[in-house]
Amino acid sequence: MKLKIALLPGDGIGPEVIQQAVKVLNAIAEKYTHTFEYSKGLVGDVAIKEFNNPLPEETLKICADADAILFGAIGDPKYDNNPNAEVRPEQGLLQLRKKLGLFANIRPVHTYTSLLHKSNLKEHVIDGADLVIYRELTGGIYFGERKLSDDKLSAVDTCNYSVEEIDRIAILAFEAAKLRRKKLTLVDKSNVLETSKLWRTRVAEISKQFPSVKLNFLYADNAAMQLILKPTQFDIILTENMIGDILSDEASVISGSIGLLASASIGKHTALFEPIHGSYPTAKGKNIANPLAAILSAAMLLDHFELYDEAENIRLAVEKSIDLNITTPDLNTTNHFSTTNVGNFISDFILDDDNTFYNKSNIDLGQSTII
Ligand code: IPM
Ligand code: MN
Repeated sequence: MKLKIALLPGDGIGPEVIQQAVKVLNAIAEKYTHTFEYSKGLVGDVAIKEFNNPLPEETLKICADADAILFGAIGDPKYDNNPNAEVRPEQGLLQLRKKLGLFANIRPVHTYTSLLHKSNLKEHVIDGADLVIYRELTGGIYFGERKLSDDKLSAVDTCNYSVEEIDRIAILAFEAAKLRRKKLTLVDKSNVLETSKLWRTRVAEISKQFPSVKLNFLYADNAAMQLILKPTQFDIILTENMIGDILSDEASVISGSIGLLASASIGKHTALFEPIHGSYPTAKGKNIANPLAAILSAAMLLDHFELYDEAENIRLAVEKSIDLNITTPDLNTTNHFSTTNVGNFISDFILDDDNTFYNKSNIDLGQSTII
């Protein structure tokens, strides 16, 4: 298969992790004889520096010409300390989502056996957790009208949802649930918010088309608690934009590190794949950032084009790296590996037909040629 992939590495650790994801994609291309062509665009702070625009026209064009987009991260501390900055890196990502119509953000969360004991949560609580968050991505309070009063003493953000916006992601989420454990939890604040009431009504209506899927509802505050108390109760979580943002960071603790969580943002015409972590500015250039979320996002990209064996091969290699503790400091505090080491291991593992070569003692002794 021939795929044109737009690369938007962005800020902070974005370029480092995207470099590893590309290395892994190239290994897949070689092994399965695919052609992946890349074109790079600027987004976020790097684009502001060059064009005073977090999403230049040129970048949008590169995205429009591509079959899919692989995105790194955006953000820089200089904006965090200046809430009044008119131009911000985040606007680049938000505009990109809106302009490309990427309405469904899919964030899978599951555990890795060899990381269970390292979690901040109790092993028996997280063991077996396997859920997917369907986060609405182009509506809600993120895109509603906002205003600071002239006297700067009050501000307003508006949360809007239309039935079309609710229905299209709800249908995707039900379809996914049908192929999984057939349970869908809608998370909202319908005890308070009008938009949430509309979500409940519509989702209940749509559920009639999916009789095999069991639908239940949770208020967001309770859902935040349940995620930590008993994550195994969830299969598909469907929710609006901001609740999904918050719950997915929380859910990353179940996996072991936010550096493991990949995501796909699906639209009608294109799709974007990105790690859910941010730009982690303090790690920039240090070769310590975890590339697995970016690499797993590349696997989701392959899934999107029905290259299931290829995607599975990446996931197998990622599991292997975790099992062998060939991981960055977020997962491995004692004897950690660099961002590049992890990327090299994964791409070499994919290309090596006889994986028996990779055994722990080789790695520990530094005898493996891959490190
Ligand atoms: C995410 C991020 C973004 C969001 C930020 C960078 C605007 O946190 O993708 O989860 O809030 O959606
Ligand atoms: Mn977020």
